[in-house]
Amino acid sequence: MSWYEEEDLWVGFAEVMFPERREQEATELIASSPLLKVSAGTRVLDLACGPAVHVVPMARAGAEVTGVDLSPAMLERARAACERAGVSARLIHANMLDFVEQDAFDLVINMYTSFGYFTDPGDNLTVLRNIRASLVPGGAAVIDLLGKEVLAGWVGRPQSVAVPGGTVFMEDTILDDWSRLRTDWTLVRGNEVRRSTILSHLYSAVELRTLFEQAGFVDIEFFGGFDTAPYDNHAKRLIVRGFRGD
Ligand SMILES: C[S@@+](CC[C@H](N)C(=O)[O-])C[C@H]1O[C@@H](n2cnc3c(N)ncnc32)[C@H](O)[C@@H]1O
Repeated sequence: MSWYEEEDLWVGFAEVMFPERREQEATELIASSPLLKVSAGTRVLDLACGPAVHVVPMARAGAEVTGVDLSPAMLERARAACERAGVSARLIHANMLDFVEQDAFDLVINMYTSFGYFTDPGDNLTVLRNIRASLVPGGAAVIDLLGKEVLAGWVGRPQSVAVPGGTVFMEDTILDDWSRLRTDWTLVRGNEVRRSTILSHLYSAVELRTLFEQAGFVDIEFFGGFDTAPYDNHAKRLIVRGFRGD
C-alpha cells in the first residue's frame, strides 16, 4: 500500500491538517482571490478535495463543484460538511492518477500540497495530463504547493502543533538530492503515540513550469500567494496556474 492510501494518516492527523479555522480561511480566499474566482454555474473540479474545505465555499458561491478523493473517510467528511452547509456537490471516490472527465471543467484546483504524491515522476505528469484533459478549452488549472524555494528557508527546524490533550510533531527529511521530501508525523497524546509519513516530490517553480509545459498547458504563471503576489523571496506558497489553451 502506498503511503497516501493510508487512512490513518489523513484521519489521525486531521486536527492539524484540517482544523476548523481553515474552513473560514477558505471562504475568505474564495471570496477574494482572483485565482479562485467562481460564479454561478462555474464547473469546478477539486482534485484531492479532502474534507471539502474548498468545495463548500465554492458551492456556496454557486459553482457546480465536483470533489475527487481517494480516501473514503475524507469523502464521508466532505459529504457531512456539504450537508451541514446546505450545499450540494458531486463527490467521487477516485485516484487522481486515473481520474479524467473529458472537457468537463472550467477550473481544476488542487490545494494544500496535494500534488507530487507518486514515486514515479511520470505518474505526476500523468496527473497533470488528466487535469488538462478534464478542462474545457480555455479552462484553468490552479495547483497550490509548498515550493522547494520556500521550504529551503525553514526545512530542518522541528515543528510541533498543540492539539487537544497532546502534540503533533513534524520532522522533514530531504531525499534524493532535493527531489523528494519525507515528513514524519508523530502524535503524542497521553499514552497514545501515532506515526505516519508523507513522501512527496518537491518542485521549484522552474521544474513545475517544465512539467506544465510537458502536459500541454499554456500561459503558465506563478504566484507566492492567492492574492497573486509574485513568487519571490516573500512567497508563502508556490501557486501555479496554467490554461488548457485551444
Ligand atoms: C493534504 S490533503 C489536502 C486536502 C484538501 N485539498 C485541502 O485543501 O484540505 C491531501 C488529500 O489528498 C487525498 N489523496 C491522496 N492521494 C490521492 C490520490 N492518489 N488520488 C486522489 N486523492 C488523493 C487525501 O485523501 C487527502 O484528502
